[in-house]
Amino acid sequence: MAHITLRQLLDHAAERGYGVPAFNINNMEQGLAILEAASACDAPVIIQVSRGARAYANDQMLAAMMEALAKIYPQIPICVHQDHGNDEATCLSALRHGFTSVMMDGSLLADARTPASYGYNLAITARVAGMAHAVGASVEGELGVLGSLETGQGEAEDGHGAEGVLARDQLVTDPAQAVDFVAATKVDALAIACGTSHGAYKFSRRPDGAILAMDAIEQIHRRLPNTHLVMHGSSSVPQAFQDVINRFGGAMPQTWGVPVEEIERGIRHGVRKVNIDTDCRMAMTGQFRRVATEQPEEFDPRKFLKPAMDAMRDLCRDRFERFGAAGNASKIKVIPLDEMARRYAAGRLDPAIAAAQAA
Ligand code: G3H
Ligand code: 13P
Ligand code: ZN
Repeated sequence: MAHITLRQLLDHAAERGYGVPAFNINNMEQGLAILEAASACDAPVIIQVSRGARAYANDQMLAAMMEALAKIYPQIPICVHQDHGNDEATCLSALRHGFTSVMMDGSLLADARTPASYGYNLAITARVAGMAHAVGASVEGELGVLGSLETGQGEAEDGHGAEGVLARDQLVTDPAQAVDFVAATKVDALAIACGTSHGAYKFSRRPDGAILAMDAIEQIHRRLPNTHLVMHGSSSVPQAFQDVINRFGGAMPQTWGVPVEEIERGIRHGVRKVNIDTDCRMAMTGQFRRVATEQPEEFDPRKFLKPAMDAMRDLCRDRFERFGAAGNASKIKVIPLDEMARRYAAGRLDPAIAAAQAA
């Protein structure tokens, strides 16, 4: 099966009211774990690759792996997505390597550290959308900066993202600006900021509305009912994973992530793509630590990797099921990129033009 675009997949998810987890990968084991889970519950897949992952795994290797996964699991639509593209070159090179979707994260400058102006974000995102749509690929933009509503800190403290203290209006996406941004850029999906951040240390307590602004998502969805919303930093940082890591020699301070029920609430209000990386890392790392502790004589990497893959597979399956993606893979017939390009060119994927043509 050809790789699916993000736009087609999220249109399907919106029609049927489900959300799709977007799992980050860096290696073969993570790719296989996601696809094993998806094939066991008939879920469509978004695999996303960060710039760091591309540097780690090599673009050729990743492209070959995506081809192989599509051959091994021909019944599963797989969207291959660039996570947090920082400029046009990153997004274009992803498309050249067979990605069917890119995120142009213009909320930060190309250094991926400095919060950008609205004008910069709008201009670069619109340019990337124009280029991607010309070849039928999809674009996710981001409005608002990821960071903590508890501390006001951007997430450079996690080694990734904005530096310094940010105002609340930078950390929570403004609904009126979101309307303007989507119309001007023509993005297929919009990542919003609502107090989540990347990594394990999102909240110092179980989050409530003061530090996880789910109401902002509801307001944005009311203003943009036809726009697919994306939640970044959506790992739940399960207590069970923290406990396994710490029981077997880890030293993770107590922390809280985004409760799955809050993500389910988001899905009821237009969230269609849910980004998860940290939970996968923790699922695997717990098993590495367990095997290293329980079988100190072991030196075959497969003895570490197999239980790690199994733990990640179980996590992925749980998210496919809880977000409602399970059972939908077989209902999707993939539209090829050149047909998507024709539809963009004809204005059929632009809600404003489509509405005017239908009138
Ligand atoms: O964007 C955040 C993801 O967790 C990717 O992280 O840049 O360490 O690969 P990474
Ligand atoms: P987590 O760190 O919460 O898994 O978020 C991942 C993410 O948003 C990738 O873009
Ligand atoms: Zn992210």
